[in-house]
Amino acid sequence: MNIEVLLTEAEIAEEFAESIEARDVPEKFFYWTPLSVRAWKTLSSRSREQMHETWEKLSRKAGDLTRAFGENVPVISFGAGEGLKDRLFLKALQEANRTVRYFPVDSSQNLLEAACAGAEDDDCEAIGIKADISSPMHMLLAADAAESPRVFLMTGNTLGGFDPMEQTRQIADCVKKGDLLIIDAKIHRDGVTAPEPERRKFVFAPLESAGAVPEDGELEFSEKPDERRDGLFLTTRKFHAARDLKLNAWGREIHIERGERIFLNFRYRFTEEAIRWLLTGHAGLRIVADIPSADGEFVTFVCIR
Ligand SMILES: C[S@@+](CC[C@H](N)C(=O)[O-])C[C@H]1O[C@@H](n2cnc3c(N)ncnc32)[C@H](O)[C@@H]1O
Repeated sequence: MNIEVLLTEAEIAEEFAESIEARDVPEKFFYWTPLSVRAWKTLSSRSREQMHETWEKLSRKAGDLTRAFGENVPVISFGAGEGLKDRLFLKALQEANRTVRYFPVDSSQNLLEAACAGAEDDDCEAIGIKADISSPMHMLLAADAAESPRVFLMTGNTLGGFDPMEQTRQIADCVKKGDLLIIDAKIHRDGVTAPEPERRKFVFAPLESAGAVPEDGELEFSEKPDERRDGLFLTTRKFHAARDLKLNAWGREIHIERGERIFLNFRYRFTEEAIRWLLTGHAGLRIVADIPSADGEFVTFVCIR
């Protein structure tokens, strides 16, 4: 298995401890420890079912979409996770007689290994890239793994885990003439639904990995519109300590006092109009196709420069 490393485990461990000290734990740590990976796999199995039809549809178009590429099709997937959706598309490209090279990009060593191993089981050459996709430099370096024309993927509302105004521009900077970007987004619905137990487990897992137990406090989920643009909705998650705690973040002891709040990862959802504007008016891409998921919860866009 071949994995290039732009972000080391030592750097992640250091950042994890710093983020708990800062009471603000960003997205990448929610897929890092074995506990988090297990919680994520349970949670994501539902979204995979929701998206299966979309990826079947996209896979049927894989040959047509990449007609101008010639025989070789590099596929670079930002925030690939286990790469389970990606693999449907890779297989369809292989069936269309393309030679595919797959570059899953992720900060989670565990998920990256799964993505590479899965692609290799399908006889697809895979080179994992362990990188931080919130860094414009890491994104550009990862994009440079192959020359244009390339297919970029960003799936599972990965965009919603970052500031979408910054992240859409960062992705667009990677997309050159001739490249394709396939990106999905979760659509905002009115009315707040209570987070299901699997989501609570996923959101709590980084703190649990540092020694917290559910009885140590409360998880608070709240949603608010992002004032910068109509149609952007931000769900924040916070942990509110109900007693004094001693956490252990990779060897660093951190004291949290009763009443303190720790910000956990956030998620954006979008109206269809807002996500279209982010990709086109804001980031300068053109949408050439869109596929709503069967339940209307996601829309997947095919974009070009
Ligand atoms: C919502 S999941 C989507 C996974 C997969 N694309 C899917 O559709 O199931 C987000 C993925 O992005 C990765 N990720 C989160 N923050 C990251 C960061 N800063 N740098 C690199 N990868 C990150 C996570 O490890 C996870 O695999």
